[in-house]
Amino acid sequence: MSREMQTRPIGSSGIEASVVGLGTWAIGGWMWGGAEEKDAMAAIRKSLELGITTIDTAPVYGFGRSEDIVGRALQSVPRDQYQLLTKCGMNWETEEGEYFFDTNDESGRPIRMHKFAGKDRIIQECEDSLRRLKTDYIDLYQLHWPDATTPISETMEAFDRLRQQGKVRAAGVCNYSADQMLEALKTIDLASNQVRYSMVSRDIEKDIVPLAQKNQMSILPYSPMERGFLTGKFHSQSNFNAGDTRANSKWMQSENMHKLERLLDHLRQIASGHGATLSQVVLRWTMEQPAIATVLAGARNAHQVEENAGAIALRLSEADLQSIDSKVNELGLAS
Ligand SMILES: NC(=O)c1ccc[n+]([C@@H]2O[C@H](COP(=O)([O-])OP(=O)(O)OC[C@H]3O[C@@H](n4cnc5c(N)ncnc54)[C@H](OP(=O)(O)O)[C@@H]3O)[C@@H](O)[C@H]2O)c1
Repeated sequence: MSREMQTRPIGSSGIEASVVGLGTWAIGGWMWGGAEEKDAMAAIRKSLELGITTIDTAPVYGFGRSEDIVGRALQSVPRDQYQLLTKCGMNWETEEGEYFFDTNDESGRPIRMHKFAGKDRIIQECEDSLRRLKTDYIDLYQLHWPDATTPISETMEAFDRLRQQGKVRAAGVCNYSADQMLEALKTIDLASNQVRYSMVSRDIEKDIVPLAQKNQMSILPYSPMERGFLTGKFHSQSNFNAGDTRANSKWMQSENMHKLERLLDHLRQIASGHGATLSQVVLRWTMEQPAIATVLAGARNAHQVEENAGAIALRLSEADLQSIDSKVNELGLAS
Protein backbone atom coordinates (compact mmCIF):
# COMPACT_ATOMS: atom_id res chain seq x y z
CA MET A 1 0.00 0.00 0.00
CA SER A 2 1.31 3.45 -0.79
CA ARG A 3 2.32 5.76 2.00
CA GLU A 4 -0.39 8.27 0.92
CA MET A 5 -3.16 5.79 1.60
CA GLN A 6 -1.93 5.29 5.14
CA THR A 7 -2.34 8.92 6.17
CA ARG A 8 -5.20 11.39 6.31
CA PRO A 9 -5.30 15.11 7.10
CA ILE A 10 -6.70 16.24 10.47
CA GLY A 11 -9.24 18.89 9.46
CA SER A 12 -7.58 21.70 7.55
CA SER A 13 -4.65 21.86 9.98
CA GLY A 14 -2.07 20.51 7.53
CA ILE A 15 -1.28 17.66 9.94
CA GLU A 16 -1.14 14.27 8.22
CA ALA A 17 -2.11 11.51 10.66
CA SER A 18 -1.70 7.77 10.26
CA VAL A 19 -5.09 6.12 9.64
CA VAL A 20 -4.58 4.06 12.79
CA GLY A 21 -3.26 6.03 15.76
CA LEU A 22 -1.89 4.70 19.04
CA GLY A 23 -3.99 5.48 22.13
CA THR A 24 -1.94 5.56 25.34
CA TRP A 25 -4.56 5.81 28.08
CA ALA A 26 -4.00 2.22 29.31
CA ILE A 27 -0.23 2.79 29.30
CA GLY A 28 -0.74 5.30 32.12
CA GLY A 29 -2.20 2.50 34.27
CA TRP A 30 -4.86 4.64 35.97
CA MET A 31 -8.39 3.19 35.53
CA TRP A 32 -6.84 0.19 33.69
CA GLY A 33 -5.50 -1.79 36.66
CA GLY A 34 -1.86 -0.76 36.10
CA ALA A 35 0.53 -1.07 33.15
CA GLU A 36 4.02 -2.44 32.40
CA GLU A 37 6.40 0.30 31.34
CA LYS A 38 8.66 -2.05 29.35
CA ASP A 39 5.68 -3.29 27.31
CA ALA A 40 4.48 0.27 26.80
CA MET A 41 7.84 1.41 25.42
CA ALA A 42 7.87 -1.58 23.06
CA ALA A 43 4.31 -0.79 21.94
CA ILE A 44 5.26 2.77 21.00
CA ARG A 45 8.39 1.73 19.10
CA LYS A 46 6.52 -1.05 17.27
CA SER A 47 3.82 1.45 16.28
CA LEU A 48 6.29 3.66 14.46
CA GLU A 49 7.83 0.66 12.72
CA LEU A 50 4.42 -0.37 11.36
CA GLY A 51 3.18 3.02 10.16
CA ILE A 52 1.24 4.07 13.28
CA THR A 53 2.90 7.46 13.60
CA THR A 54 0.16 9.39 15.38
CA ILE A 55 0.26 9.02 19.17
CA ASP A 56 -2.56 10.26 21.41
CA THR A 57 -1.90 10.87 25.09
CA ALA A 58 -3.03 13.16 27.95
CA PRO A 59 -1.61 14.52 31.21
CA VAL A 60 -4.32 12.77 33.20
CA TYR A 61 -3.38 9.29 31.87
CA GLY A 62 -1.50 8.08 34.92
CA PHE A 63 -1.10 11.69 36.15
CA GLY A 64 1.80 12.46 33.81
CA ARG A 65 3.00 8.86 33.39
CA SER A 66 1.66 8.23 29.88
CA GLU A 67 3.13 11.46 28.50
CA ASP A 68 6.41 10.74 30.25
CA ILE A 69 6.66 7.24 28.73
CA VAL A 70 5.73 8.55 25.26
CA GLY A 71 8.40 11.26 25.55
CA ARG A 72 11.11 8.79 26.56
CA ALA A 73 10.14 6.18 23.96
CA LEU A 74 10.38 8.74 21.15
CA GLN A 75 13.28 10.91 22.26
CA SER A 76 15.78 9.53 19.74
CA VAL A 77 13.30 9.50 16.82
CA PRO A 78 13.40 12.51 14.42
CA ARG A 79 10.51 14.76 15.41
CA ASP A 80 8.98 14.94 11.92
CA GLN A 81 8.45 11.16 11.86
CA TYR A 82 5.57 11.17 14.36
CA GLN A 83 2.63 13.35 15.39
CA LEU A 84 1.92 14.07 19.05
CA LEU A 85 -1.67 14.59 20.14
CA THR A 86 -2.18 15.53 23.76
CA LYS A 87 -4.80 17.24 25.87
CA CYS A 88 -5.45 19.68 28.68
CA GLY A 89 -8.24 20.71 31.01
CA MET A 90 -8.39 17.93 33.61
CA ASN A 91 -7.54 19.16 37.09
CA TRP A 92 -6.67 16.76 39.90
CA GLU A 93 -4.58 19.21 41.90
CA THR A 94 -7.03 21.93 43.03
CA GLU A 95 -10.78 22.42 43.39
CA GLU A 96 -10.93 24.83 40.44
CA GLY A 97 -13.36 24.18 37.61
CA GLU A 98 -16.36 21.87 37.32
CA TYR A 99 -16.39 18.83 39.62
CA PHE A 100 -16.23 15.62 37.53
CA PHE A 101 -15.78 12.47 39.67
CA ASP A 102 -13.94 10.89 42.59
CA THR A 103 -11.07 8.52 41.88
CA ASN A 104 -7.78 7.23 43.34
CA ASP A 105 -4.25 7.45 42.04
CA GLU A 106 -2.16 4.28 41.76
CA SER A 107 -1.03 4.51 45.38
CA GLY A 108 -4.68 4.62 46.46
CA ARG A 109 -4.68 8.33 47.32
CA PRO A 110 -8.20 9.78 46.87
CA ILE A 111 -8.57 12.39 44.12
CA ARG A 112 -11.42 14.76 43.29
CA MET A 113 -11.24 15.22 39.52
CA HIS A 114 -12.36 18.54 38.02
CA LYS A 115 -12.71 19.79 34.45
CA PHE A 116 -10.92 23.11 34.27
CA ALA A 117 -10.16 25.02 31.08
CA GLY A 118 -9.14 28.49 32.34
CA LYS A 119 -6.69 30.36 30.10
CA ASP A 120 -3.72 30.59 32.49
CA ARG A 121 -4.10 26.99 33.50
CA ILE A 122 -4.01 25.80 29.88
CA ILE A 123 -0.93 27.86 29.09
CA GLN A 124 0.80 26.27 32.10
CA GLU A 125 -0.40 22.76 31.25
CA CYS A 126 1.06 23.10 27.76
CA GLU A 127 4.50 23.85 29.23
CA ASP A 128 4.22 20.79 31.49
CA SER A 129 3.25 18.54 28.56
CA LEU A 130 6.09 19.86 26.36
CA ARG A 131 8.52 19.03 29.17
CA ARG A 132 7.20 15.50 29.72
CA LEU A 133 6.98 14.81 25.99
CA LYS A 134 10.55 16.14 25.49
CA THR A 135 9.56 18.28 22.52
CA ASP A 136 9.14 21.94 21.63
CA TYR A 137 5.79 21.58 19.90
CA ILE A 138 2.60 19.53 20.12
CA ASP A 139 0.93 18.70 16.80
CA LEU A 140 -2.68 18.69 18.00
CA TYR A 141 -3.62 20.18 21.39
CA GLN A 142 -7.08 19.16 22.55
CA LEU A 143 -9.37 20.19 25.37
CA HIS A 144 -10.06 16.90 27.18
CA TRP A 145 -13.61 17.62 28.45
CA PRO A 146 -15.87 20.69 28.30
CA ASP A 147 -15.74 22.80 31.49
CA ALA A 148 -19.01 24.58 32.26
CA THR A 149 -17.27 27.10 34.56
CA THR A 150 -15.08 28.65 31.83
CA PRO A 151 -16.41 30.47 28.74
CA ILE A 152 -15.53 28.49 25.62
CA SER A 153 -14.09 31.66 24.04
CA GLU A 154 -11.57 31.97 26.90
CA THR A 155 -10.33 28.40 26.36
CA MET A 156 -10.08 28.89 22.61
CA GLU A 157 -8.14 32.15 23.09
CA ALA A 158 -5.58 30.18 25.07
CA PHE A 159 -5.27 27.67 22.20
CA ASP A 160 -4.93 30.52 19.72
CA ARG A 161 -2.12 32.09 21.71
CA LEU A 162 -0.26 28.75 21.97
CA ARG A 163 -0.61 28.30 18.24
CA GLN A 164 0.74 31.78 17.54
CA GLN A 165 3.71 30.99 19.78
CA GLY A 166 4.38 27.82 17.77
CA LYS A 167 3.92 25.59 20.79
CA VAL A 168 0.99 23.78 19.16
CA ARG A 169 0.32 23.30 15.45
CA ALA A 170 -3.45 22.96 15.71
CA ALA A 171 -6.31 23.08 18.22
CA GLY A 172 -8.92 20.42 18.81
CA VAL A 173 -11.51 19.41 21.38
CA CYS A 174 -12.79 16.18 22.85
CA ASN A 175 -16.25 15.25 24.00
CA TYR A 176 -17.80 18.47 22.69
CA SER A 177 -21.48 18.58 21.75
CA ALA A 178 -22.55 20.10 18.43
CA ASP A 179 -23.53 23.34 20.22
CA GLN A 180 -20.16 23.55 21.95
CA MET A 181 -18.38 22.99 18.61
CA LEU A 182 -20.35 25.86 17.06
CA GLU A 183 -19.49 28.15 19.97
CA ALA A 184 -15.77 27.30 19.76
CA LEU A 185 -15.71 27.85 15.98
CA LYS A 186 -16.60 31.51 16.60
CA THR A 187 -13.10 31.97 18.10
CA ILE A 188 -10.86 29.42 16.39
CA ASP A 189 -10.71 27.07 13.40
CA LEU A 190 -10.89 23.77 15.26
CA ALA A 191 -9.22 20.84 13.53
CA SER A 192 -11.06 18.00 15.26
CA ASN A 193 -13.42 16.62 17.86
CA GLN A 194 -12.19 13.46 19.61
CA VAL A 195 -15.24 11.48 20.69
CA ARG A 196 -16.33 8.04 21.72
CA TYR A 197 -17.23 6.08 18.60
CA SER A 198 -17.47 2.44 17.66
CA MET A 199 -19.87 0.21 15.74
CA VAL A 200 -21.95 -0.04 18.93
CA SER A 201 -21.53 3.57 20.17
CA ARG A 202 -23.11 5.57 17.35
CA ASP A 203 -24.47 8.66 19.07
CA ILE A 204 -22.24 11.15 17.22
CA GLU A 205 -23.66 10.18 13.83
CA LYS A 206 -26.78 12.32 14.46
CA ASP A 207 -25.30 15.80 14.66
CA ILE A 208 -21.57 15.83 15.49
CA VAL A 209 -20.38 14.08 12.31
CA PRO A 210 -22.48 16.26 9.93
CA LEU A 211 -21.32 19.41 11.72
CA ALA A 212 -17.69 18.32 11.51
CA GLN A 213 -18.05 17.67 7.78
CA LYS A 214 -19.66 21.05 7.21
CA ASN A 215 -16.76 22.80 8.95
CA GLN A 216 -13.84 20.80 7.48
CA MET A 217 -13.18 19.22 10.88
CA SER A 218 -12.13 15.64 11.52
CA ILE A 219 -13.53 13.12 13.95
CA LEU A 220 -10.96 11.24 16.03
CA PRO A 221 -12.84 8.21 17.37
CA TYR A 222 -11.81 6.87 20.78
CA SER A 223 -12.48 3.46 22.34
CA PRO A 224 -13.17 1.99 18.86
CA MET A 225 -12.75 -1.52 20.31
CA GLU A 226 -14.99 -0.66 23.29
CA ARG A 227 -11.88 -0.83 25.48
CA GLY A 228 -11.22 -4.43 24.41
CA PHE A 229 -14.80 -5.81 24.47
CA LEU A 230 -14.92 -5.88 20.65
CA THR A 231 -11.75 -8.01 20.44
CA GLY A 232 -13.69 -11.02 21.71
CA LYS A 233 -11.38 -11.70 24.65
CA PHE A 234 -13.80 -11.09 27.51
CA HIS A 235 -16.56 -13.37 28.79
CA SER A 236 -18.90 -13.38 31.79
CA GLN A 237 -16.26 -14.92 34.09
CA SER A 238 -13.42 -12.59 33.05
CA ASN A 239 -11.30 -11.29 35.90
CA PHE A 240 -9.93 -7.78 35.91
CA ASN A 241 -7.03 -6.35 37.89
CA ALA A 242 -7.92 -4.17 40.88
CA GLY A 243 -8.59 -0.64 39.60
CA ASP A 244 -9.58 -1.76 36.08
CA THR A 245 -12.87 0.10 35.54
CA ARG A 246 -13.89 -2.31 32.77
CA ALA A 247 -15.12 -4.66 35.50
CA ASN A 248 -18.12 -2.31 35.79
CA SER A 249 -18.69 -1.89 32.05
CA LYS A 250 -22.17 -2.26 30.66
CA TRP A 251 -20.70 -5.05 28.49
CA MET A 252 -20.21 -7.18 31.62
CA GLN A 253 -24.00 -7.25 32.19
CA SER A 254 -25.29 -10.59 30.95
CA GLU A 255 -27.93 -9.35 28.49
CA ASN A 256 -25.50 -6.94 26.82
CA MET A 257 -22.72 -9.49 26.76
CA HIS A 258 -25.02 -12.05 25.19
CA LYS A 259 -25.93 -9.63 22.38
CA LEU A 260 -22.31 -8.62 21.93
CA GLU A 261 -21.36 -12.29 21.55
CA ARG A 262 -23.81 -12.59 18.67
CA LEU A 263 -22.28 -9.56 16.98
CA LEU A 264 -18.79 -10.98 17.52
CA ASP A 265 -19.86 -14.27 15.91
CA HIS A 266 -20.92 -12.31 12.85
CA LEU A 267 -17.64 -10.36 12.81
CA ARG A 268 -15.69 -13.63 13.11
CA GLN A 269 -17.27 -14.87 9.89
CA ILE A 270 -16.25 -11.70 8.06
CA ALA A 271 -12.78 -11.81 9.60
CA SER A 272 -12.19 -15.42 8.58
CA GLY A 273 -13.17 -14.61 4.98
CA HIS A 274 -10.31 -12.08 4.91
CA GLY A 275 -7.81 -14.00 7.02
CA ALA A 276 -8.14 -11.15 9.51
CA THR A 277 -8.77 -10.85 13.27
CA LEU A 278 -11.67 -9.25 15.12
CA SER A 279 -9.72 -6.15 16.12
CA GLN A 280 -8.66 -5.63 12.49
CA VAL A 281 -12.25 -5.85 11.21
CA VAL A 282 -13.44 -3.52 13.97
CA LEU A 283 -10.75 -0.92 13.29
CA ARG A 284 -11.22 -1.08 9.51
CA TRP A 285 -14.99 -0.63 9.88
CA THR A 286 -14.27 2.49 11.97
CA MET A 287 -11.83 3.92 9.40
CA GLU A 288 -14.48 3.59 6.71
CA GLN A 289 -16.97 5.90 8.46
CA PRO A 290 -17.38 9.56 7.42
CA ALA A 291 -15.05 12.34 8.66
CA ILE A 292 -12.65 9.96 10.41
CA ALA A 293 -8.98 10.99 10.34
CA THR A 294 -7.09 8.65 12.70
CA VAL A 295 -8.75 5.80 14.58
CA LEU A 296 -7.28 5.86 18.08
CA ALA A 297 -6.54 2.25 18.93
CA GLY A 298 -5.41 1.75 22.51
CA ALA A 299 -2.68 -0.85 23.04
CA ARG A 300 -0.46 -1.77 25.94
CA ASN A 301 2.11 -4.04 24.24
CA ALA A 302 3.82 -4.68 20.90
CA HIS A 303 1.71 -7.75 20.19
CA GLN A 304 -1.54 -5.75 20.29
CA VAL A 305 0.05 -3.05 18.11
CA GLU A 306 1.10 -5.63 15.52
CA GLU A 307 -2.39 -7.03 15.36
CA ASN A 308 -4.07 -3.62 15.19
CA ALA A 309 -1.65 -2.35 12.53
CA GLY A 310 -2.93 -5.17 10.32
CA ALA A 311 -6.12 -3.14 9.91
CA ILE A 312 -4.25 -0.63 7.74
CA ALA A 313 -3.94 -3.07 4.83
CA LEU A 314 -7.30 -4.83 5.35
CA ARG A 315 -10.03 -4.01 2.83
CA LEU A 316 -13.68 -4.68 3.63
CA SER A 317 -16.28 -4.72 0.87
CA GLU A 318 -19.36 -2.50 0.85
CA ALA A 319 -21.37 -5.68 1.52
CA ASP A 320 -19.20 -6.49 4.59
CA LEU A 321 -19.69 -2.98 5.97
CA GLN A 322 -23.42 -3.06 5.39
CA SER A 323 -23.82 -6.49 6.94
CA ILE A 324 -22.07 -5.25 10.09
CA ASP A 325 -24.46 -2.29 10.32
CA SER A 326 -27.46 -4.56 9.76
CA LYS A 327 -26.33 -6.97 12.47
CA VAL A 328 -25.73 -4.12 14.95
CA ASN A 329 -29.24 -2.79 14.22
CA GLU A 330 -30.89 -6.21 14.32
CA LEU A 331 -29.40 -6.84 17.78
CA GLY A 332 -30.41 -3.36 18.98
CA LEU A 333 -26.79 -2.65 19.89
CA ALA A 334 -26.38 0.83 18.42
CA SER A 335 -26.47 3.38 21.22
N1 LIG B 1 -10.71 12.09 24.84
C1 LIG B 1 -11.20 11.22 25.67
O1 LIG B 1 -12.03 11.56 26.54
C2 LIG B 1 -10.79 9.78 25.55
C3 LIG B 1 -11.48 8.78 26.24
C4 LIG B 1 -11.08 7.46 26.06
C5 LIG B 1 -10.00 7.18 25.24
N2 LIG B 1 -9.32 8.18 24.60
C6 LIG B 1 -8.16 7.90 23.72
O2 LIG B 1 -8.50 6.90 22.77
C7 LIG B 1 -7.60 5.81 22.90
C8 LIG B 1 -8.29 4.51 22.51
O3 LIG B 1 -9.39 4.23 23.37
P1 LIG B 1 -9.31 3.16 24.56
O4 LIG B 1 -7.89 2.86 24.89
O5 LIG B 1 -10.22 3.67 25.62
O6 LIG B 1 -10.06 1.88 23.97
P2 LIG B 1 -9.84 0.86 22.79
O7 LIG B 1 -8.86 1.36 21.83
O8 LIG B 1 -11.19 0.48 22.34
O9 LIG B 1 -9.26 -0.42 23.58
C9 LIG B 1 -7.92 -0.46 23.97
C10 LIG B 1 -7.65 -1.66 24.88
O10 LIG B 1 -8.13 -2.88 24.31
C11 LIG B 1 -7.15 -3.91 24.51
N3 LIG B 1 -6.63 -4.27 23.17
C12 LIG B 1 -6.16 -3.44 22.21
N4 LIG B 1 -5.78 -4.11 21.11
C13 LIG B 1 -6.06 -5.40 21.36
C14 LIG B 1 -5.89 -6.58 20.60
N5 LIG B 1 -5.41 -6.55 19.36
N6 LIG B 1 -6.26 -7.74 21.17
C15 LIG B 1 -6.78 -7.79 22.42
N7 LIG B 1 -6.95 -6.70 23.20
C16 LIG B 1 -6.58 -5.51 22.67
C17 LIG B 1 -6.06 -3.32 25.40
O11 LIG B 1 -6.40 -3.46 26.78
P3 LIG B 1 -5.99 -4.71 27.71
O12 LIG B 1 -4.70 -5.25 27.24
O13 LIG B 1 -5.95 -4.16 29.08
O14 LIG B 1 -7.13 -5.65 27.55
C18 LIG B 1 -6.15 -1.85 25.06
O15 LIG B 1 -5.65 -1.01 26.05
C19 LIG B 1 -7.13 5.90 24.35
O16 LIG B 1 -5.97 5.14 24.60
C20 LIG B 1 -6.94 7.38 24.47
O17 LIG B 1 -5.75 7.79 23.84
C21 LIG B 1 -9.72 9.46 24.75
